[in-house]
Amino acid sequence: MTATTIAVLVGSLRADSVNRQLAEALRDLAPADVTLDIVDGLGEVPFYNQDVDVPGLVPDAAARLRERVAAADRVLAVTPEYNGRMPAVLSNAIDWISRPYQAGALAGKPFGVVGTTPTPYGGQWAHADAVRSAGIAGAVVVEDVTVSQSALEVDVLTDPDVLARLTNAVRLLADHEVETAAA
Ligand SMILES: Cc1cc2nc3c(=O)[nH]c(=O)nc-3n(C[C@H](O)[C@H](O)[C@H](O)COP(=O)(O)O)c2cc1C
Repeated sequence: MTATTIAVLVGSLRADSVNRQLAEALRDLAPADVTLDIVDGLGEVPFYNQDVDVPGLVPDAAARLRERVAAADRVLAVTPEYNGRMPAVLSNAIDWISRPYQAGALAGKPFGVVGTTPTPYGGQWAHADAVRSAGIAGAVVVEDVTVSQSALEVDVLTDPDVLARLTNAVRLLADHEVETAAA
């Protein structure tokens, strides 16, 4: 059995964030061969600035984010939607792990996104935004993972169907085969 580690980036900093609680539920429900590592401290990561993205000047919080993602096999964003796009905290995290160009922690790594909002659309624009950005940043987007779950008519933290759908999304991401260049 190959162990897979998925770095989880939560797009909400709110203490009672439903998306954060969902990420924690998915971590607790993960199969034995999959570890979900929820990366804390995204709120402490400064806005990306190329002037400080040089050896010796990278802010500690950004360096820690890069290390955690680099140590993982996959990346999962669990995020709500802000104003029709992904929240700035997630966008900023993607910017940091996208560099150095083509050699950042995200490069070549399978990436998926799930999340929930209390609207009929469940955050689908934010999720489309995240996959587009992560793909441009060099990740291998696994589109089938995406779940944009409305929280309007269901308690997403306890509903068995919702949790099964999301657990399956984690499985899909963990099992995604990374294509390697032919020798
Ligand atoms: C600044 C802001 C913008 C928002 N814009 C959207 C939006 O465009 N689409 C949407 O579905 N929900 C929107 N919402 C509602 C969030 O989806 C909702 O607050 C959600 O519960 C936040 O997730 P959390 O519980 O993980 O913090 C917005 C909330 C805020 C604070």
